[in-house]
Amino acid sequence: MTVIAVIGSQWGDEGKGKVVDFLAEQADYVARFNGGNNAGHTVINEFGTFKIHLVPSGIFAQNTTGLIGGGVVIDPAVLIEEIEMLNKAGVNVDGRLWVSPRSHIIMPYHKILDGLYEEAKGKGATGTTRRGIGPVFADKVSYNGIRWTDFASDMFEQRLEVQLTLKNKIIVALGGEALKFASVRDEYRSYYARIKPYLKELFSLVQDGLKTDKTFLLEQAMGTFLDTDWGTYPFVTASTTIPSAASAGLGIPPKYIQNVIGVTKAYTTRVGGGPLPTEIHDYESEVYKKFGEVAATTGRVRRVGWLDLEIVKTAAELSGMTEICLTKLDVLSGLKEIQVCTGYKLNGETIRYADVDAYGLDKVECVYETFPGWSEDISKAKSFEELPVNAQKYVKMIEEAAGVPVKWIGVGPARDETIRR
Ligand code: GDP
Ligand code: IMO
Ligand code: MG
Repeated sequence: MTVIAVIGSQWGDEGKGKVVDFLAEQADYVARFNGGNNAGHTVINEFGTFKIHLVPSGIFAQNTTGLIGGGVVIDPAVLIEEIEMLNKAGVNVDGRLWVSPRSHIIMPYHKILDGLYEEAKGKGATGTTRRGIGPVFADKVSYNGIRWTDFASDMFEQRLEVQLTLKNKIIVALGGEALKFASVRDEYRSYYARIKPYLKELFSLVQDGLKTDKTFLLEQAMGTFLDTDWGTYPFVTASTTIPSAASAGLGIPPKYIQNVIGVTKAYTTRVGGGPLPTEIHDYESEVYKKFGEVAATTGRVRRVGWLDLEIVKTAAELSGMTEICLTKLDVLSGLKEIQVCTGYKLNGETIRYADVDAYGLDKVECVYETFPGWSEDISKAKSFEELPVNAQKYVKMIEEAAGVPVKWIGVGPARDETIRR
């Protein structure tokens, strides 16, 4: 058995989808274990360009089976749409995609409440994806959730009735419109009928795989610093994102998670509210325009900043990172100078990320080092040696700071635009 976790070492969107897609060839199982369809993972390969929210990004490798663990929350309409999109693109998922019946279902009231809570917070809003993620996880841990198992045991209607009584009161009090029992019931019954063929308890499959020579590739959603406990709370997501989440979310004992690949963007991006110490606010600058990205789930413009080594180092420590996959190095090409944050100061004292909360992190002063850039287009480079010397130095500087070797380097968005080192 081999278990490889792929985790984002910043605030999400590091390029996990691409990395999982190119590693999937060597995996028997590719699994999602946390979050939900707030994730947006971009995959560009011979089948086309995809923004995937729930199905593991490794599904394109024909000998791989996709697993959606019990730790994932699912908007059924999104899952159905994704399955249909994949089938249409020639990626047949029937018989090779299994969804845990333990996974919780995102209901219409979760999405409504997500929006109402955000609006109530005004300027202090989290900037969620409004996919109902916070409310569905809140229901999960307060024993109010609805799972796929509730359909099989005929508890669905009873549980929905109680939840609608509760949720409608809140929705109406906050100025929203009450949901109708019959229409929600019928809508979700039809989703269940469509998703039923993909439901399968994953316990035996996972345990058997761990006892044999199977390879599991675990695809994290979100990034280390959106983790509920270790992220910049309250500007975080509602699930655990560090590799330990894979243990609960899939039933894999922690001792098996020995390989942790930290996907690290060569600069930093963040979507939504919360601190971003290296943020670039000069919206007319060359570098702002270069780093600019559009979010894969919501289409929002991502905030951007220089690489923050304190963040990458902390992620390496928290997750037990064994290798780094550096993505988007090609985007830095053409910059005369590249700034990198090597640490934080607060009131003249050197501090670590974990010494302050989100509001403190907003006040830290970044200590910058300036590195010389390179002008060459590196998107066609196939080996480390082909990279300009300054690009090589940039890579070496990152692995030294993080204490973790950079094993892959992304030089473009497509699967094969990746250097193995
Ligand atoms: P994820 O959520 O971590 O899977 O990342 P996203 O897909 O949300 O965002 C990453 C973006 O960077 C996507 O548009 C990818 O196509 C793109 N990308 C990934 N790796 C590279 C790379 O090495 N170079 C370039 N130019 N783009 C990349
Ligand atoms: P992937 O997997 C980047 C952010 C939202 C918001 C916060 C809470 O593509 O890297 P939520 O809807 O989860 O309650 O929003 O978390 N967020 C992400 N940011 N990439 C993601 O996923 C994200 N998923 C959630 O923007 O700030
Ligand atoms: Mg993304």
